[in-house]
Amino acid sequence: MKSKTILVTGGAGFIGRHLVKRLVDAGHQLAVVDNLSVGQKTSLPAKVKFFRGQVEDPKLVNIFTRVRPEAVYHLAADNRVVSPVKSTLNSNIIGTYNVLTAAKKARARQFIFTSSAAVFGDAKTFPITETHPTRPISPYGISKLTGEQYCQLFQSHFDTKILRFANVYGPGQSSTSEGGVVAIFISKLLAGEKPIIYGNGLQTRDFVFVADVVEALVLCLKVQQSFTLNIGTNQAVTIKQLLKLTAKLIDQRVAFIQKSARPEEIKKSLFEFKLANKTLGWRPQTSLADGLAQTIAAFKKK
Ligand SMILES: NC(=O)c1ccc[n+]([C@@H]2O[C@H](COP(=O)([O-])OP(=O)(O)OC[C@H]3O[C@@H](n4cnc5c(N)ncnc54)[C@H](O)[C@@H]3O)[C@@H](O)[C@H]2O)c1
Repeated sequence: MKSKTILVTGGAGFIGRHLVKRLVDAGHQLAVVDNLSVGQKTSLPAKVKFFRGQVEDPKLVNIFTRVRPEAVYHLAADNRVVSPVKSTLNSNIIGTYNVLTAAKKARARQFIFTSSAAVFGDAKTFPITETHPTRPISPYGISKLTGEQYCQLFQSHFDTKILRFANVYGPGQSSTSEGGVVAIFISKLLAGEKPIIYGNGLQTRDFVFVADVVEALVLCLKVQQSFTLNIGTNQAVTIKQLLKLTAKLIDQRVAFIQKSARPEEIKKSLFEFKLANKTLGWRPQTSLADGLAQTIAAFKKK
């Protein structure tokens, strides 16, 4: 692929760092905007142009017009499931509108937005397809759905590619992030502590490995059209099963602290990826056991 100038918001975060490294390795010129509320600048490749800033800041446009990106990946978000409403309004809604406006002013050609299974709320039919009704039950889910709708408003200016991720996990995920159950389980078990399970532990998730997610993001550059795709594995795993498998790989006994269920948390998540396969030629490549083993190895190196 021809070398492109690409701007990644939230590029210092968990998925962002994997994406940026992958795009730099492919020969592209990268710029990152991140407020470092969660992300770490230190782990970015040296040739990346880094701008510390808030996506909701009206001055963001100056960075965009200076960089002139052909493609924009918008990952910056407050992605805590139980996040304060004001923060999701600012970072995820005003922020997304502001990034879209800046991308338009800079004449970007492609806009890739990272959305979430949270837009569906408690889904009624499984596996969840792209046409399943969206009924978010958290401020985060509402903010992601609103972000998607703003993307659609800008489709006459550039292709907007919306990827809705299931639960992403892998090396480099913060174990303090409330969404990162895999990272939390691994860090607790490695420390010989008991992880917390909210509710009965029978809630299911669809865990997709970060390298597979990055592959889907990179494939978006090759397809010249707007779309909305689910990115998951079509494999449902209960939180208890996840704990059991993680404990087995770490050689620890299965023990946990049980707390009451969190109302904002969805009970079941399972994504169909047929449309992603048809549109991008994408399918998940990494089994949960392999992905967990790679993640555990990375945590042990820390
Ligand atoms: N990790 C998952 O399981 C998952 C699932 C579905 C969707 N997503 C989406 O993928 C994207 C990346 O997720 P991640 O797991 O890498 O999260 P992350 O929290 O590790 O990364 C987000 C980055 O955005 C930055 N940021 C936050 N608010 C900002 C703001 N207002 N201005 C500028 N920078 C800001 C943070 O410092 C961080 O580096 C997010 O949009 C998230 O909603 C993630």
